[in-house]
Amino acid sequence: MDLKEIARPIEHHIEAFDKVFDQSIKSKIGLVDLVTKYIVRQKGKKVRPILVLLSAELCGGVNPKTHRGAALVEILHTATLIHDDVVDDADTRRGIASINAVWKNKIAVLMGDFLLAKGLLLSLDHDDFRFLKITSTSVRRMSEGEIHQIQKSRQLDMDEETYLKIIGDKTASLLSTCCEIGATSSSDDPEKHRLLREYGENVGLAFQIRDDLLDYVGRKSITGKPTGLDLSEKKLTLPLIHSFTQAPKKEGKEILSMIKSGGKKLKVTEIVEFVTRYGGLEYAASRAVHYASEAKANISTFPDSPSKRSLIAFADFVIQREK
Ligand code: IPE
Ligand code: IPE
Ligand code: MG
Ligand code: MG
Ligand code: MG
Repeated sequence: MDLKEIARPIEHHIEAFDKVFDQSIKSKIGLVDLVTKYIVRQKGKKVRPILVLLSAELCGGVNPKTHRGAALVEILHTATLIHDDVVDDADTRRGIASINAVWKNKIAVLMGDFLLAKGLLLSLDHDDFRFLKITSTSVRRMSEGEIHQIQKSRQLDMDEETYLKIIGDKTASLLSTCCEIGATSSSDDPEKHRLLREYGENVGLAFQIRDDLLDYVGRKSITGKPTGLDLSEKKLTLPLIHSFTQAPKKEGKEILSMIKSGGKKLKVTEIVEFVTRYGGLEYAASRAVHYASEAKANISTFPDSPSKRSLIAFADFVIQREK
């Protein structure tokens, strides 16, 4: 199933979500308004709002509170992407110039903060305190994960356990929050909340492993963002981490020193060859499959329904996606 089919059980709610999203990020300041218009014109896949809506549908049914939850997570996501492109020095996002590329880092940093505040205010204005509690945890985890990642890229050492901790914090935390928010918006059953939270965490790990694979093998024209960027930022992701454990020490050291020098010395095709030869790409793909199937197991006790089938299909989608 593609994302459009996956979203079918909740597609009639997307418009309501879009409305809340667009309304919630408005500003009377000219430059802020200009940037938000730029953001609204080029939307992403809406993976996170779709997760909120499907989770709510599975646990009892979408309602206006669910729409606000979906807008909240997409606003937070947008804020983190804008900050992420500053941190990663990325010039392209969603197929167009990133905010930092157009307006410079200063504006991007402040716009990210503005959006974060707007997201939190949306919940506060409607007394959605539970949402705030759940999202605050993931905002903390996202920031810690990003800084942990920088710490590791400076030390240039990384093992699989640390990698999993980082991607759990920086990416899975928000996907987990999406599912939990959806569940709490439509049900009071703590067991359902837990199952959806765990589903989101597992699907989030698979999502980021796939993202890291796409940084090696994806095409910019499809992903809408630069590829090979992780290596130039000295980010050691799963394909490389695994290949280091398989390759002869000497060969691994050579690759590592190439990454360390960076700049012109960094031969991305040589590294892609290295991770292919030592099974890093295959291994990462197999770990993504593993977490996707854990996610499916998390929701196996729910009775069959269109929203359940979509959440199962979503777990397959994240590991096959090309963008
Ligand atoms: C990108 O997320 C950031 C990661 C966590 C890898 P998406 O791939 O969902 O980005 P958009 O919203 O569709 O652009
Ligand atoms: C995504 O990591 C983490 C976020 C929370 C934004 P990446 O830095 O790999 O995301 P992309 O590839 O730029 O979307
Ligand atoms: Mg990035
Ligand atoms: Mg990043
Ligand atoms: Mg990436």
